[in-house]
Amino acid sequence: MENRTKIVTIQRHIMEQQALLPTATGDFTLLLWDLVLAFKMISREVNRAGLAAILGPAGHENVQGEEVTKLDDFAQSRIFEQMDHGGHLCCMASEEADGLIPIPERFPKGKYVLLFDPLDGSSNVDVNASLGTIFSIHRKRTPGVDGSVEDCLQRGSEQVAAGYAVYGSSTMLVYTAGRGVHGFTLDPSLGEFLLSHENIRIPRRGKSYSVNEGNERNWDEGTRRYVNYLKEKDKATNRPYALRYIGTLVADFHRILLKGGIFLYPPDCSDPAKPKPKLRLLYEVSPMAIIAEQAGGAATTGRERVLDVQPTDIHQRVAIALGSPEDVREYEDFVQGRRP
Ligand code: AHG
Ligand code: MN
Ligand code: MN
Repeated sequence: MENRTKIVTIQRHIMEQQALLPTATGDFTLLLWDLVLAFKMISREVNRAGLAAILGPAGHENVQGEEVTKLDDFAQSRIFEQMDHGGHLCCMASEEADGLIPIPERFPKGKYVLLFDPLDGSSNVDVNASLGTIFSIHRKRTPGVDGSVEDCLQRGSEQVAAGYAVYGSSTMLVYTAGRGVHGFTLDPSLGEFLLSHENIRIPRRGKSYSVNEGNERNWDEGTRRYVNYLKEKDKATNRPYALRYIGTLVADFHRILLKGGIFLYPPDCSDPAKPKPKLRLLYEVSPMAIIAEQAGGAATTGRERVLDVQPTDIHQRVAIALGSPEDVREYEDFVQGRRP
């Protein structure tokens, strides 16, 4: 009897974590519960996407000029419709929506802001590779009932919670609410996320790197030298590192969170006067950065801690390197010229 496994659902875990805070009202707990249900619905749809003939492009582009898939649309409306009426949010913002997403007039407003990437890894939709959803939650900081753009443009260090669902060989949900990082696996027969990875700690150093190396010719000099260094032979530092790249940030980061290593998306420097980063700060990079730090890892733009970057635009893009702390520090040494 003593050795029996204690089964903890995500609902119970969230509730117990919040109960540790003397000021908690239960509002935040209910907000996360609503989100969890949206993730279950997206997971179900992703799993049967081939059967439901939902694969393929939706036939229009999003605000950023990228082709939208039907699953992007599905995930966007699932989350919006699940989160618009609970009374916990004052506004939302998403990769798939132009500006701020207001809470409809007829519903009560709350004190939190939700930023999300409804479907991460869209280019993998048609090939049955892992996809994900990313979220970030901030507290409203402007006066008044309605949320504003300013409420969305907060530093990553001010996130109240962040996390992602990864729709892989099983569906997992990983989140932090500022007390470590916890992972849950969806048991489809129960329809419940069960605690499978308590208090995840990222290894101090890894053995692999993750980057779209096809872009090498457009990288900055520091990144190019760093990646070449990873391919040199050195027993003490496990080099050469292995290259692992799926092209879904959530899936690439999830592997690094569990196994260690570094994920990079450096800016396109083909015009050195105008470096162009790709990944979005508010709903892709910041949530991953706080999870990395909460697990003992690090996240940098190359020059600055990601969580310290002051956002100026909802869809702002930023350079990113994140993962094991020793790997990330080494990358910064190369980019900042401390390593020749
Ligand atoms: P999204 O599908 O939400 O637009 O995000 C795609 C992102 C991210 O998931 C991934 O890390 C990166 O784009 C892949 O980019 P490349 O295809 O340029 O490597
Ligand atoms: Mn994405
Ligand atoms: Mn997306």
